Amino acid sequence: MSKKNNKTISNANDLLYAQKLAKIDTFTFNDQVADVFPDMINRSVPSYQSISEGIGKIANMVCEDGSIIYDLGCSLGNVSLAISKSLQNKNVDIIGVDNSRAMIERCRHYISNFSYGQKIKIVEGDLTCLDLLPNNLTVTNFTLQFVNPDARQNVINTIFKNLKPNGAFIMSEKVVFEDNNLNELMIELHHDFKRENGYSDLEISQKRTALESVMILDSVDTHLSRLRAAGFKQSQVWYQHYNFVSILAIK
Ligand SMILES: C[S@@+](CC[C@H](N)C(=O)[O-])C[C@H]1O[C@@H](n2cnc3c(N)ncnc32)[C@H](O)[C@@H]1O
Repeated sequence: MSKKNNKTISNANDLLYAQKLAKIDTFTFNDQVADVFPDMINRSVPSYQSISEGIGKIANMVCEDGSIIYDLGCSLGNVSLAISKSLQNKNVDIIGVDNSRAMIERCRHYISNFSYGQKIKIVEGDLTCLDLLPNNLTVTNFTLQFVNPDARQNVINTIFKNLKPNGAFIMSEKVVFEDNNLNELMIELHHDFKRENGYSDLEISQKRTALESVMILDSVDTHLSRLRAAGFKQSQVWYQHYNFVSILAIK
C-alpha cells in the first residue's frame, strides 16, 4: 500500500455492499469506492484487463511520435498506464481526465509508481464540458454509461470534432440487448461471473440498486448510431464478453 496526502492506493477487497444496508445510497465515485476500485472493477467487469491491454495495443498501432491521447473517465489510470506501457518507445502525451476528486488524487500518486507513467498528465474535468486538444486517440473505458443519456451525443460530437483525420475513438460500455430474453440471459451470465469472483447475491442486488439511476445503458445499435451521427466513417465492436463491449471508431 502506498500513501500520499492520506490518499491510499490499496489492494483492499470491495466489501461495500457485503452487509445488508438499511438504505442504499446512489452510487458515486467517492473515497470509499476509490479505495476498493481495482478489486471492484476486476471482479465486476468481465475481461477488464484484456480490454485495457487491447486498448494499449490499438494505441500503439494508431499513434506515432507526437501523438496526443485522451483517457476520459480515467479513474485510477489503468488504461492510461496500459497505453503508456505499450507506447514506451514513442514520444506521446497521454491526458487522463476524471471528475471524481477521490479518483484523481489516488490516480496521480498511483501512476507515479511506474517509469512509463511520466507520459501521463491527470486533469480534473467533466466529460460534458470538455475542452480537448486536437488528438490522435480518445478512449472512454466504461465511462459514457455514467453520463446522462441526453448529453451523450454532444460528448461524442466533441470527441469527433477534436480528433485529427484518421484519429481513433475507443469506447467500452456495458450494454443492453434489444431482445428481452437475450438481455436477461446476459445479465444472468454476468451475475454468475460476479458470484464466481466472490460476490454474494446480496452484494450483487444492493450494488444493482445503487447503480440503477446513475448507470443508464444503451444498446450497441444506439452507440453505433451516435458514432455515425457524429461523423465517424467506420465503427465496429472489437471486443465483447457477455454484455460488455468495446467499440473502435475511426474518423
Ligand atoms: C467505471 S469508471 C471507468 C474506469 C476506467 N476508465 C478504467 O478503465 O479503469 C468510470 C469513471 O468515470 C468517471 N466519470 C463519470 N462521469 C464522469 C463525467 N461526467 N466526467 C468525467 N468523469 C466521469 C468516474 O469518476 C469514474 O472514475
